[in-house]
Amino acid sequence: MCGIYGYIGRNSINEVMGGLKRLEYRGYDSAGIAFIGDNLDCEYADNNEHIKRFKNLTVIKSEGQMSCLEEVINKCLPIGDIAIGHTRWATHGKPSVANAHPHISKNGKWVIVHNGIIENFEELKKQFSPKRFVSDTDSEVVAHLLEKYYDGSALSTLNKVCRMIKGSFALAVLTTYEKDKILVAKYGSPVVVGCDEEAGVVCSDLNSIKVGKCAFILEDNQFAVVEKGNVSVYDENLKPKKLKNMADCHREERGNLGNYSHFMLKEIDEIPRAITRTIEQYNSYEKMRTVLPLNVVRKIKKILIIGCGTAYHAGLIGKRLFEEIGIKSEVEIASEFRYNTFIPEKNTLAIFVSQSGETADTIKALSKCKENNLLTLAMTNVKNSSICFVADRVIYTSAGAEIGVASTKAYNSQVALFYLISSYFKSVLDDNAKDFDREVVKLLDVAKVISHNKIKPICQKVADEIYQSKSIYMIGRGLDYDLAREASLKLKEISYIHCEAYPAGELKHGTISLIDDKTFVFSFITQKMVKDKTQSSEKEISARGGKIIKLTQFEENNAFMQLSLPEVEEKYMPLIAVVYMQLISYYTSVRLGNNPDKPRSLAKSVTVE
Ligand code: F6R
Repeated sequence: MCGIYGYIGRNSINEVMGGLKRLEYRGYDSAGIAFIGDNLDCEYADNNEHIKRFKNLTVIKSEGQMSCLEEVINKCLPIGDIAIGHTRWATHGKPSVANAHPHISKNGKWVIVHNGIIENFEELKKQFSPKRFVSDTDSEVVAHLLEKYYDGSALSTLNKVCRMIKGSFALAVLTTYEKDKILVAKYGSPVVVGCDEEAGVVCSDLNSIKVGKCAFILEDNQFAVVEKGNVSVYDENLKPKKLKNMADCHREERGNLGNYSHFMLKEIDEIPRAITRTIEQYNSYEKMRTVLPLNVVRKIKKILIIGCGTAYHAGLIGKRLFEEIGIKSEVEIASEFRYNTFIPEKNTLAIFVSQSGETADTIKALSKCKENNLLTLAMTNVKNSSICFVADRVIYTSAGAEIGVASTKAYNSQVALFYLISSYFKSVLDDNAKDFDREVVKLLDVAKVISHNKIKPICQKVADEIYQSKSIYMIGRGLDYDLAREASLKLKEISYIHCEAYPAGELKHGTISLIDDKTFVFSFITQKMVKDKTQSSEKEISARGGKIIKLTQFEENNAFMQLSLPEVEEKYMPLIAVVYMQLISYYTSVRLGNNPDKPRSLAKSVTVE
């Protein structure tokens, strides 16, 4: 979702383009750059709809991928010592050149890029004639407000305007009044500022900023002035603030494709390593105690798990594992939780699952739990992501950078961590550390069972069967239903085939009327206890012509297709079975000519509510 990169120093335009490319993984549908400087091929620029020039401020924007913006830039060869850029994921107004950022004020003296949502933008726009606005965005109004309220100091003007905004924002601003700085403001959307001896930088995340001297993660209601070789941070009253320098902190390597055609396939192949690394990080009581001390665990009476999408699906499994050991547990979708009536219970541990650690809905839900005095634990894959600074405690999945928009290895690592945490709780409550050690060994063994190369051909075959479907269903009971929900999300998000997961027993209460002889239904049977019941559901489907594709470790041969799963202890089966479904989704997407790494309309990091 929207990315911001700004640079002051030599070759600023190249630096910003490089920064925006590092932010591409977040997902976007248009991109743009603004810079102060006048060195560009004027003849080309003057007749180009992508380029707007205002004295010595220039804005270049394009719809689509970064390569489209690059093409324009390569033709007009601009040079500037200060630039801000943006990748936009459309919320207000369709993807278009007009709606792409940066946005410029009418007098051409201010230009802004924005990440977040300005909720009161309609109200704010009423201060101006409608004719002034050239885009449908919520963001453009900020540029006009800066023009209108300019008080002789760029920073104080930005502070004044931010007080008028309701919603969330990370803003980077250039002004021709003060050509030697980039101004930054933050509320609710992540932003990092930093510098080197000869440069100053602003960026949406710590992993994508390139600086050696200093990097500061701004907090809400903070402002920054970024100059060559210097960054100053201020609070909401513009009093200077000191923040921790994160320049030397761990940064996640993005990795490259190697011999793979897509990150998604590479990341599915990395699952065994991701699980192993995650478990090894917490493979002893001592290590777990640093996250959740024994006295804390002993007091917990309830677990509340919150996340979005795939992270929520990992939480569904977490809930079952905690309940299995007798701890009351609930799981909620973050965006729902925020507005549901909440009756906090004493001694609750609230666990927030987020691969990116930047998901706005999850972070807001976390804040709600903190306001209600719950102990909060963030489970994330990205060190120093926003969620780490809000939660009381943090536990990391060590899946390595996940670039593919569809989450795969992060999901398996989250689920693995739930096995580990719930086992740790049980061991602490039973006062039996040996059980925990045994769980570690079992999990490391489970990671080894996944043998990708053996299962790829059958997954490809399934993809060849299903890729022309209009609608697909997936059924299961208990853990198999949780698995079906994740499998269904994976398939639909990258193949664009409508797909729904149903509790096997629920199908007959309405949805079965949609099943005919063209419908594929994936049936998951990995739990012995519900085997017979799910088989009955399969029969009901077959009787209506539906074609069953079954995933099971049990000997059965009554389906249209059957994928025989390797046998591990039942409770771990979803961890294995989901890999088949990730691969089937991947091959279906590729068969349809889609790019599974960048599915339409989706962003890797969902930083707006
Ligand atoms: C689906 C997917 C999303 C994310 C969701 C939460 O494949 O990746 O559903 O799981 O947007 O993202 P995080 O985990 O970063 O909070």
